[in-house]
Amino acid sequence: MNAMFQRLVGRFVPASLPPSGTFDGQTVLIAGASSGIGLAAAVHFATLGASVIITSRVASRGDAAKRHIEQAAGSSYKGQVTCLELDLESYASCTSFMGKLKTLMPDPAKLDVAILNGGMVNSHWEQSEAGWERTIQINTIGTTLLSLLLLAWMREAASLRKSPAHMVFVSSRDHLYNDISPLCSCQEKKDHILRQLSSKDNWDGAFFETQPNYNVSKLLLMYTIEGISDLARAPDGEPLVIVNSVCPGMVKTDIGGRIATRSMIHAIGVWLTLFVTAKTADSGSRICIQAALKPKETHGEFFNYWMTPEMYRSEAEPVIGCEKARSLQKQVWQEVIDELQTNVPGLQATLESMKQNST
Ligand SMILES: NC(=O)c1ccc[n+]([C@@H]2O[C@H](COP(=O)([O-])OP(=O)(O)OC[C@H]3O[C@@H](n4cnc5c(N)ncnc54)[C@H](OP(=O)(O)O)[C@@H]3O)[C@@H](O)[C@H]2O)c1
Repeated sequence: MNAMFQRLVGRFVPASLPPSGTFDGQTVLIAGASSGIGLAAAVHFATLGASVIITSRVASRGDAAKRHIEQAAGSSYKGQVTCLELDLESYASCTSFMGKLKTLMPDPAKLDVAILNGGMVNSHWEQSEAGWERTIQINTIGTTLLSLLLLAWMREAASLRKSPAHMVFVSSRDHLYNDISPLCSCQEKKDHILRQLSSKDNWDGAFFETQPNYNVSKLLLMYTIEGISDLARAPDGEPLVIVNSVCPGMVKTDIGGRIATRSMIHAIGVWLTLFVTAKTADSGSRICIQAALKPKETHGEFFNYWMTPEMYRSEAEPVIGCEKARSLQKQVWQEVIDELQTNVPGLQATLESMKQNST
């Protein structure tokens, strides 16, 4: 089935949910849950019994989401909904979020699932405070930082849990739709990949190029998820935290908002694409619930609704599996780690400790 056909089918066939009570007594963190897929996932987890910790950059949006989740979970809901502020664009916000999470929940063994969902599509070139193009900053670098901080904390509790906790990245199948040759020539010239991708000169502002760095930001994220998955393994190779990534398919959310602001034609294009191909957030978010129940044997795997792992490996060969992609993965992981170690106090020691106690 080609991608378009799969998207059309997926629009009408929601995945099933596990039985009620599946997450009774558990705690699930969903980073980026004020709207769209994150909010819908939070509603599912709460309805299935979990206490949820959600995040937003804006307290009022978080409070509105909290009220929505509590209402959807109903009067018999025994869990709690808590909202914390988090901006993946800011290193200080990520570390301060971790401080607040640890205060809220002193025992890391109590965190059962972390869903890293926050992300964005940018249609205009913008630079983050740290100097990177904003899509790369949020979708790749910030998400990797948050996962490292969470992983270091969750690993501490692994021996106190009956089974490993889960970390699920909401990536996108769009990572497959990349031509890696510009990244390879960057590497051949010994250039810095993140810097080249962040340069305004390399931003494709053509009329029909609606999301210039989105696909590549998710490919780079897939590269760093590999690094995270390695760090999540104990020296004997067993995962201390089960790491997976997912694609929810095309989902009707606010993510195309920045594309729509470019022109009336773009606004109509976004509306039409979502109208024809997108499923609801309720439906799309179900993959997060499924991923949070995957066994440890799936550690490191990517899931979407339609591809088997074999189909994925075959489709991912040109961007993930081939020799050139292997070399890119190493460079991108190192660049992201260098950036974070240089700018996030204490991260170097955290990383060293994880490296010494992993495979
Ligand atoms: N919609 C799709 O078709 C689709 C397909 C594949 C993958 N995805 C992925 O799904 C994830 C969720 O997207 P969505 O479609 O649900 O879009 P959305 O409705 O725009 O939701 C995005 C969420 O991310 C949060 N967020 C945005 N920027 C952030 C930042 N700098 N720091 C922290 N949180 C931030 C937002 O919270 P606040 O603004 O309140 O902070 C919001 O809760 C993204 O990672 C996206 O790439 C979406």
